[in-house]
Amino acid sequence: MHTATEERIIRPAKSVSGSLRLPGDKSISHRYGMLAAFAEGTSRFTNFSTGADCASTLSCMEALGARMRRLEDGTVEVTGMGGRVTPAKTALGCGNSGSTMRMISGLLSPQEGRFTLVGDASLSRRPMERILKPLTAMGARLTLTEGHAPLTIEGGALKAIDYTMPVPSAQVKTCLLLAGLQTGGTTTVREAVRTRDHSELALRAFGATLTRTVDSVSISGPQALHAIEAAVPGDISSAAFFLCAAALFPGSSLVFDSLGLNPTRAALLDVLTALGARISVLNLEEKNSELVGMVQLTAPPEGLGTTEISGTLAAQLIDELPVLAAIGPTTNGGIRIRDARELRVKESDRIALVVKNLRAMGAEVEEFEDGLDVPGGQTLHGATIDSGDDHRIAMAFSVAALRAEGETLIQGAESVAISFPEFFNLLELVAER
Ligand code: S3P
Repeated sequence: MHTATEERIIRPAKSVSGSLRLPGDKSISHRYGMLAAFAEGTSRFTNFSTGADCASTLSCMEALGARMRRLEDGTVEVTGMGGRVTPAKTALGCGNSGSTMRMISGLLSPQEGRFTLVGDASLSRRPMERILKPLTAMGARLTLTEGHAPLTIEGGALKAIDYTMPVPSAQVKTCLLLAGLQTGGTTTVREAVRTRDHSELALRAFGATLTRTVDSVSISGPQALHAIEAAVPGDISSAAFFLCAAALFPGSSLVFDSLGLNPTRAALLDVLTALGARISVLNLEEKNSELVGMVQLTAPPEGLGTTEISGTLAAQLIDELPVLAAIGPTTNGGIRIRDARELRVKESDRIALVVKNLRAMGAEVEEFEDGLDVPGGQTLHGATIDSGDDHRIAMAFSVAALRAEGETLIQGAESVAISFPEFFNLLELVAER
């Protein structure tokens, strides 16, 4: 049983400046790790995510028969199973990772054998019907425990479907594409909002053929995958904490090298620009169809303005909303977020925890079922922050704490290791006191 142990004190800062290169993107690392393990041959990845979530994906795939090696220079080497997994003798532990559980379910449903997937307390509360429904329509035999993990799969041949996702979700889309990859006929997934498309790009990089329209993606199976070599782009969702932090301090300037800039992930740069930050992108290149570049942010001398995030933008920025809300009080005009009900079923109820922690810091905030209003021009006070063992809440409030009066104590600080173990060290490196 996991208990929150580590506490961190964050002191106020005067500016946030410097130059950083971040570990590999979590979403891309999950996909590269999973596809490489399923493919034929040996793949190698540099700058693979250092987060515990991606380690969960690798260990599940290892338990299913892939071979993993971490080389001395940090390269992750994966020797794949050539499309045939071996049922694990024990349950597959997905830890805190919704991506691992939802995506692996799609990969395993068409495979012969019985598989059990378990997660930690947070993952065991998260909704899994969203994969059960379409996978069952494909003929898969999945059993949930009251709508949640533990989840069991009795694998076997599936039939292709045409599915319209009721809630935008890249994890559900990926789950169905991985099932469709191994299923005769054409599986189509339709989405009203274009969610992150790393799976489509990665599947192509591993040799699969897919067709895309503005609002759908189709895959015809069965198809084989072949090993690749790739450098994983820096994680823009991790960079988000530093970009928001730097944007708060007039005079700050921060540079990121080799940052992932996939258009389905880069909406934060538009929002920060709308808030008044100056952002330039240099040396843009494509690596395995993923855009990578250098990003420089300069904070506006007059402070950040105001913005409203709703509709499509809310879905595309879902992982960045906690930090945007947390900096809301120290903008001039405030931040309003709507259409973000999904935040309530992430690693924690992120709307409830952001509201609770902003109030603990003395801020005024209004809570809605699908978002929150954070007025600007407020002064934050150091406080004790309940991270709810949620990595993004711990990091979002470490950023807010830089602009608070007095020290802030982050409870459950070890949760940052889920996506970004280096977070506190890098924060100390760039925060000037
Ligand atoms: C992810 C998709 C998003 C995101 C999560 C990672 C992915 O979740 O919140 O952190 O890698 O596909 P949903 O697909 O459930 O929206």
